[in-house]
Amino acid sequence: MKKILVCAAALLFAACQNKTTTEPMKIFTEIDSKEIPGNFVQAMSHDWMLITAGTQEKFNTMTASWGALGHLWNKPVAFCFVRPQRYTFEFTEAQDCFTLCFFDEQYREALQICGTLSGRDVNKVEKAGLTPRILESGNVAFEEARLIIECRKIYADFFGLEKFTTYEIPSRIYPSSDFHKMYIGEILHVWEKQP
Ligand SMILES: Cc1cc2nc3c(=O)[nH]c(=O)nc-3n(C[C@H](O)[C@H](O)[C@H](O)COP(=O)(O)O)c2cc1C
Repeated sequence: MKKILVCAAALLFAACQNKTTTEPMKIFTEIDSKEIPGNFVQAMSHDWMLITAGTQEKFNTMTASWGALGHLWNKPVAFCFVRPQRYTFEFTEAQDCFTLCFFDEQYREALQICGTLSGRDVNKVEKAGLTPRILESGNVAFEEARLIIECRKIYADFFGLEKFTTYEIPSRIYPSSDFHKMYIGEILHVWEKQP
């Protein structure tokens, strides 16, 4: 009996040391992109999301509140926007895929951390108390998410001053011309957490 308890404690300790998990997604159910629940104007603007790109060995994540889901070129798509000075930009540029993760209100503080600190300077994931979830494809999402959307980049371009049809936005949002790069990703998989 003592031996079993020691083994269990050792396993628990090992699990705590390395939080990354590649276990099958037991608590998530894959759903069709047409079944994604909720209002995405609300989800983006109020709930926020994490944009994550990279591999199990090296990835980065950041909070974003600008984005969209939709239908384009006969595919379900997600849009996100990353400024070039973000560390995450190096990853969205280098990788073919990215994930978008949405969370319940209890993770607001974690999203604040991922939206104010840079992965260049600190281990944000550890600081935010999040657990990386390595998807079957090798792409990275988070165990704590309520919804995971996995995308493959199909189009990317920077906004440009000459392309705006109003001066109000570039003068207010881009006074130093650090235009976002827009990524359009084909939605490959969607997972929803079971209640
Ligand atoms: C609520 C919120 C929304 C944000 N939305 C975006 C966004 O859509 N695009 C962007 O480039 N940065 C956005 N940011 C800023 C980045 O999350 C922030 O600069 C982050 O620290 C970048 O981390 P990184 O350097 O590790 O990539 C947002 C920040 C917050 C708090």
